Amino acid sequence: MAQHVNVALIGYRFMGKSHSNAYRQVAHFFPQVGAVPEMKVLCGRDRAAVAEAAQQLGWQEVNTDWRAVVRRSDIDLVDIVTPGNAHADIAIAAAQAGKHVFCEKPLANTVAEAERMVEAVEKAGVRNMVAFNYRRVPAVAYARQLIEEGRIGRIYHFRARYLQDWIMDPDFPLVWRLDKGAAGSGPMGDLGAHIIDLAHYLIGDFDEVTGMAETFIKERPLLAATDSGLGASGGTTKGQVTVEDAAAFVARFTSGAMGVFEVTRFAGGNKNANTFEINGSKGSIRFNLERLDELEFLDLTVPSTEQGFRTILITDGAHPYMAAWWPAGHIIGWEHTFTHEVLDLLNAIASSSAVAPDFRDGLRVQYVLDAVDRACASHRWERVTR
Ligand SMILES: NC(=O)c1ccc[n+]([C@@H]2O[C@H](COP(=O)([O-])OP(=O)(O)OC[C@H]3O[C@@H](n4cnc5c(N)ncnc54)[C@H](O)[C@@H]3O)[C@@H](O)[C@H]2O)c1
Repeated sequence: MAQHVNVALIGYRFMGKSHSNAYRQVAHFFPQVGAVPEMKVLCGRDRAAVAEAAQQLGWQEVNTDWRAVVRRSDIDLVDIVTPGNAHADIAIAAAQAGKHVFCEKPLANTVAEAERMVEAVEKAGVRNMVAFNYRRVPAVAYARQLIEEGRIGRIYHFRARYLQDWIMDPDFPLVWRLDKGAAGSGPMGDLGAHIIDLAHYLIGDFDEVTGMAETFIKERPLLAATDSGLGASGGTTKGQVTVEDAAAFVARFTSGAMGVFEVTRFAGGNKNANTFEINGSKGSIRFNLERLDELEFLDLTVPSTEQGFRTILITDGAHPYMAAWWPAGHIIGWEHTFTHEVLDLLNAIASSSAVAPDFRDGLRVQYVLDAVDRACASHRWERVTR
């Protein structure tokens, strides 16, 4: 009989909902999963709100004190879905209490915090994972398979963009994502972290970077005090935006490949356009999250008269993760990436084996973010710590 893993989830809004859905689905669609999650306790600061969320999302108990929760002897896995400024304290306390730790991205708001988190989980010898869920889009996992099989050949270019448009209205309020203290950075840490992790997954290590960042709207209306707001008085008072609205950088990978990256919350019409293109000596790949069941592939080894991008529908039972879902041609969606993450994490817990991306991979991303930050300030090329 499969082992059970008791989970505590800290935070309950956007990612709280997506992780809860993953715990609810995983054993139903992947009955061979090494450990079955028990949705034990949901934690938040507002008792009434967390109780309502627990009922909606399927958690057995609620608690308003994460410190007490991570010490509970009946908890095996602590899952952190709070803003970045709360990741380090919760993750380190959980690791010190001997719990496995699953943490949302970016791993932390600073390199120093991320280094302390890596030290804590490695010292405790617990399983640890960062929620870079886009590695677990079947089309992205398949792209990596094509690269590993040598179908793309020597890689020359990685061109990635992550574009959104949700704060273009200057009257959009000063939510936590626009506050450096809470979020650490703007779209660089939020969206850039995802595409940097994809570059690590698909291409390899960064050598050096240079870039620029811009804040277009420098002041915004303050929010009324809420659980995840900035705790201001509301009304017409404005506060300072302390993160970038958009950023771009170019990179040299240690392999010699070139990288071009762009992230923004001001790309009108782009809701969640996480896209990349890879060009190699034997072929090219294109991916767009808004069409996540498709992968475009160009094979340069066929006669030139037959060359051209073809769109592969990634729903075959032989594609990564797809055998567990529906017959070929029956597409899946964004929320499935979290089920795949939780599947791999639970298997790693059950078999005491490593799982990626772990906290060390999260720290690698943090080193790139830090180098981009330094380059935006210095207007020079900056080396990435490795
Ligand atoms: N993997 C992805 O695709 C993805 C998408 C969105 C967000 N994220 C990440 O998930 C994390 C949370 O983002 P979100 O969009 O769910 O935010 P959110 O604002 O929707 O939810 C944040 C939750 O954290 C709780 N919280 C805040 N501070 C807390 C504290 N000190 N102690 C306990 N609880 C606290 C809030 O009450 C709320 O329940 C962030 O790190 C973010 O970067 C990842």
